[in-house]
Amino acid sequence: MRQVDVSLGSKSYAVYIGAGLLAQAGRYLKEKGFAGRLVVITDSTVNRLCGSALRQALEADGFGVSTIEVPPGEAQKSLERAGQLYQELTAGRAERTTPILALGGGVIGDLAGFVAATYQRGVPLVQLPTTLLAQVDSSVGGKVAVDHGQLKNMIGAFYQPEMVIADISALKFLPTDELANGLAEVIKSAAIRDGQFFSFLEENMERIKSLDEGLLEEIVYQSVRIKAAVVAEDELDMGLRNILNYGHTIGHAVESASDFKIKHGSAVAIGMVAAARVSLHLGLLDEGELKRLQELIIRAGLPVGMPDFRVEEIMLAMQHDKKVREGKTRFVLLKSLGNAEVIDDVAPSLIEEVLTENEQA
Ligand code: NAD
Ligand code: GLY
Repeated sequence: MRQVDVSLGSKSYAVYIGAGLLAQAGRYLKEKGFAGRLVVITDSTVNRLCGSALRQALEADGFGVSTIEVPPGEAQKSLERAGQLYQELTAGRAERTTPILALGGGVIGDLAGFVAATYQRGVPLVQLPTTLLAQVDSSVGGKVAVDHGQLKNMIGAFYQPEMVIADISALKFLPTDELANGLAEVIKSAAIRDGQFFSFLEENMERIKSLDEGLLEEIVYQSVRIKAAVVAEDELDMGLRNILNYGHTIGHAVESASDFKIKHGSAVAIGMVAAARVSLHLGLLDEGELKRLQELIIRAGLPVGMPDFRVEEIMLAMQHDKKVREGKTRFVLLKSLGNAEVIDDVAPSLIEEVLTENEQA
């Protein structure tokens, strides 16, 4: 078991990472002083795979567990679904002290986290992430939200959990494309902050993809360590935390221009390569490093260029992005593998040029 502490003063918490940890959730909760009732919010897929094992373990530790199940998918991140969850919490007489356990991927973490942040002005939240993406990214850092129509994460809050328990064993059920989705964020973490971790990924990508538990634990630990350090310095995303959006400016535009048919991880992979090309054009990154990034992304099972996207649509979608401020496009650029910087005034013509190159790649 590995542990990362997210240092946020009185809101500090631990992230526990290891195989078989869901079975120990009750012990971690008791150590934190919780007793009595708990509400687990999960989706039907995750409930089928991990729900009963978690419930049995919690009940064996003396907790009373109610489970609320929603269907899987991004569409659940809505105010309507949050409203139904408030209804079920009220009907079940959940109190201000009743913890909500978010068991699932990033959708459940964001939705249940938003409900926990707002129900009775905030109840304790425990994140139990079950996708690689949720373990390395969304469960840590306190961003919780629902979507507003097509606009992602428009209604939300910063609401830190009491703890995060990342059970590596849950990842054995993950479909290949969901694993690749998370690997995009793992590669991002290494690319922005840790060149040694990037080399580690280069050495071990095939074994990681074969779901070697020791390696999965290591990559989740390293990614969480990187994210926790960034969040500890800039919890409210006013500066440094922007670097976590490396690959996401173009990535979000690609996702939205494809009507969300292209998955987040794939879109971020395309975005990371495009942003690295911008870095190359500006003389920040050398060609050899761009090539290493592209090769690692391909080995992770992710795309580096899209066959038939329309550059104008991507440019338009980028203008609607939250990260585009006052007409300037905020970009995270690489100075080397392991070192990123936020640049506020990348010329749209350069982005267009790079996207056109990417189209031809
Ligand atoms: P997801 O939650 O939709 O999970 C993907 C699919 O995997 C779902 O069908 C789910 O049922 C299934 N699943 C979950 N765990 C499984 C397991 N162990 N085995 C088999 N199947 C499993 O998607 P995601 O990629 O985890 O998260 C995406 C969401 O995260 C988006 O809504 C995104 O906006 C959000 N996000 C939030 C943050 C943040 O900081 N809050 C950061 C990144 C992404
Ligand atoms: N996923 C980006 C952040 O947490 O800030």
